Amino acid sequence: MNYQDRKTDKDLKAGAARCPAISTQDIIAQDKVQAPGWVRSESYEYLGSEDIDTARYIDPAFAKEEYDRLWTRTWQFACREENIPGVGDYYVYDLGSYSFIVTRVSKDEVKAYYNACLHRGTKLRASGTDGTASEFKCSFHGWSWNVDGSNKSVTCPWDFPHVNRDEYKLPEARVALLGGFVFINMDPDAPSLEDYIGPEALAHIKAWKLEDRYVALHVGRRFQCNWKLNIEAFQEAYHVIQTHPQVAPSNGDANSQYDTYGEHVNRFISTLGVVSPHLYGKVSEQDVFDQFTLGDSSALGGGGKPQLKEGETAREAMAVMFRGMFEQAFNADLSKVSDSELLDCFSYTIFPNLFLFPGISLPMVYRFRPDPKDHRASIFEVLFLRPVPKDGKRPEPAEPIMLGDNQSFTEAEGMDPGFGAIMDQDTENLFLQQEGLEASAKHGLTLGDYQEIRVRHFEKAVDKYMAMPPKRPDWKRAQP
Ligand code: FES
Ligand SMILES: [Fe+2]
Repeated sequence: MNYQDRKTDKDLKAGAARCPAISTQDIIAQDKVQAPGWVRSESYEYLGSEDIDTARYIDPAFAKEEYDRLWTRTWQFACREENIPGVGDYYVYDLGSYSFIVTRVSKDEVKAYYNACLHRGTKLRASGTDGTASEFKCSFHGWSWNVDGSNKSVTCPWDFPHVNRDEYKLPEARVALLGGFVFINMDPDAPSLEDYIGPEALAHIKAWKLEDRYVALHVGRRFQCNWKLNIEAFQEAYHVIQTHPQVAPSNGDANSQYDTYGEHVNRFISTLGVVSPHLYGKVSEQDVFDQFTLGDSSALGGGGKPQLKEGETAREAMAVMFRGMFEQAFNADLSKVSDSELLDCFSYTIFPNLFLFPGISLPMVYRFRPDPKDHRASIFEVLFLRPVPKDGKRPEPAEPIMLGDNQSFTEAEGMDPGFGAIMDQDTENLFLQQEGLEASAKHGLTLGDYQEIRVRHFEKAVDKYMAMPPKRPDWKRAQP
């Protein structure tokens, strides 16, 4: 079915309208190496068309409340398991003024301690640090804890007859491991991570086998916008034609697919190797293919400018080309990976701070956190996850590179320049959006019913937690 044949029906019920071009599912259905069921399914639910209130992005009081209502109740991505491979390895994860020592206490067990001495409160490890410990000793008066959290020593115990050392274990946040990620949750009453994600999305995330990837590059930067604006800039492909015009000739944008799963997970699938519906009639299949071969044969090992065969689509040719290229580049066996998983841009949000792009061509993780000192600033990180080589030898995870506030992503060592430019385009609008929301006479954001459903779904989760009473960690309940 071509673009013109599909009609937009204005009488459809709210949320039912779709881009009249070929759908994501119809594109994927034509692939040679067929995709699994969880790719070939849809899960959209109309969630209303009301404006999203602006205050959540611009009001410092709202940001303050988020710390005690939202961040104290949700499962957050703290680090990768590969950051703490051995017993005693630790990684300090900070969220606002909260801070945790995430440490491996045995081969299969990871704990997350509130990063504060139980004497007079000094942080046991400085924020932003990692390393290996045989004990966690306070630098002020020398109280110390074993790696398993039990109290090891109190200096001058004769002066603390009121301190029962068995009770002075380091308080813990909850920890769950999934796909090589370490998640923490401060709420002893929260559902398990599995229930929080829900069975359908959990099956997707397990299927991507992200535990078999390693962090090949890790780049971070601070942005002058609220953390929610930062994350929402990546939740739709609606912006592609305006923000990234250079990728539109080879990217299905307006016909991307959007799904929501329960309260905390949403995704999109944006197809690659097909032209944007905005450019139908202006770009040929050969033009699409040329985008990836740069019009020369270098990607294919020489032999003249690669031409599509008679009747061959750019997507078909790219699936073959990408499979060979990635198998070689990663020394990995990708023969069973479907064309869609190989080519397409899959993105998942796991509320509130984790964003997964698990596909093979764009294997990334984003993490978003509020800046503790400024509600209109956020900390963004991108981690590139490459498949672990066939020989099973896992390379060391890359050290994070933190860019300065005005640095371009293209300046990060190891960053693909084309991708760095896309990141810059994505983030250039953020400050304008933050300031615009503060300047606006209109106190709400108007969203598309379909293409911006992930933004609405995300904000619905924000609303759910903000409607709850404040809940600060309670050290008695945080005792193991
Ligand atoms: S504050 Fe930690 S030992 Fe005194
Ligand atoms: Fe973008």
